[in-house]
Amino acid sequence: MPRNPWFETVAEAQRRAKKRLPYMVYGALLAGSERGRTAHGNTAAFAELGFAPHVAGHHANRDLSTTVLGVETSMPVLISPTGVQAVDPDGEVAVARAAANRGVIMGLSSFASKPIEEVAAANPNVFFQMYWSGDRDTMVRRMDRARAAGAKALIATLDWSFSNGRDWGSPVIPERIDLKTAVKLAPGVLPHPGWLWRFAKTKRIPDLTAPNLASADGSVPTFFGAYGEWMQTPPPTWEDVAWLRKEWGGPFMLKGVTRVDDARKAVDAGVTAISVSNHGGNNLDTTPATIRVLPSIAEAVGDQVEVLLDGGIRRGGDVAKALALGARAVLIGRAYLWGLAANGQAGVENVLDILRGGLDSAVLGLGRAGVHELSADDLVVPPGFRLTLGGSDAPGDPAS
Ligand SMILES: Cc1cc2nc3c(=O)[nH]c(=O)nc-3n(C[C@H](O)[C@H](O)[C@H](O)COP(=O)(O)O)c2cc1C
Repeated sequence: MPRNPWFETVAEAQRRAKKRLPYMVYGALLAGSERGRTAHGNTAAFAELGFAPHVAGHHANRDLSTTVLGVETSMPVLISPTGVQAVDPDGEVAVARAAANRGVIMGLSSFASKPIEEVAAANPNVFFQMYWSGDRDTMVRRMDRARAAGAKALIATLDWSFSNGRDWGSPVIPERIDLKTAVKLAPGVLPHPGWLWRFAKTKRIPDLTAPNLASADGSVPTFFGAYGEWMQTPPPTWEDVAWLRKEWGGPFMLKGVTRVDDARKAVDAGVTAISVSNHGGNNLDTTPATIRVLPSIAEAVGDQVEVLLDGGIRRGGDVAKALALGARAVLIGRAYLWGLAANGQAGVENVLDILRGGLDSAVLGLGRAGVHELSADDLVVPPGFRLTLGGSDAPGDPAS
């Protein structure tokens, strides 16, 4: 454990997470699929975009705040729902506290290790994420519970497909951790006493259950039990999406859109927001980087629904680039998971501070008074960078 727990970049948080966590746990956070092209491409694409800063006329005070689905946020960065926060004993509650301390919205996965009631108590600005899993009655019951707990929006993630293995190997995640499993896992875990100590202090073991997917009788499925339910559920149609949206009633985000035609269908289904997302490259490998497909989607539907982006955000400058290309806000996944693994709640706050600092610096250098002023004029976009999937190229698209 480094003496100073503060880190200055997300890359350093990742290095510390790698060192601190048993390899299989780190592997679960790294995720990705097959060759890892999409996961890598999401981050690499941001480096291809340049800034076009001004030399004078900068603003002394800059406004980074905005709203997402009617909820205020101190900056246009949300916690994206992820299902493996049991890497820390406080898991999603630690992340929710960090997000609340920094004034940002918490997206909570239905595969989370903590109940939504505890998470909403730590951060009232919670968006609950659901997959299309189980029958309609079950989904209605889950939505009722999330609503009663105070969730302010529903995120429907529909882009998850069956994982096809990773060339660098997938972590072995046990069904549950009992004495027999603990003995089996010991050789990989014992060389990481700092991580073990974090759990030992709380007298808890990593929780591999999904309490937000409890049945009507209150029994809580294991992570794999929940996964099994999702695998056995026939995939949704657009009519199902419209049904889900109507049943929820409140603000509704569809996560996983990469095509213009899908974005238009999402509008027709009545959604209030979409996230341009490829699940952080954990699905169909070789799907293009989300930042490349964002502009055409924002141009097609940005005046009808809120358009967000997730995938590859590691710096505040990346946030500025996504906003300049049409996103209202972004969601982050691995960045805060690495912060959580590196230093618990403080590590997540550290990551949010890094993103805020980098975003503010970009807004300053670009001569803008706030995030709402960012535009494509602030960027250097290489020819052929933008891609339009599932539709004719939008007007003004250099790729057209
Ligand atoms: C380890 C891991 C677990 C995830 N679990 C979920 C999940 O349960 N629900 C969901 O909608 N997205 C999930 N995602 C996708 C993230 O919400 C988000 O789309 C993605 O991480 C963004 O890319 P980034 O990690 O490069 O920021 C997960 C991603 C990772 C890396």
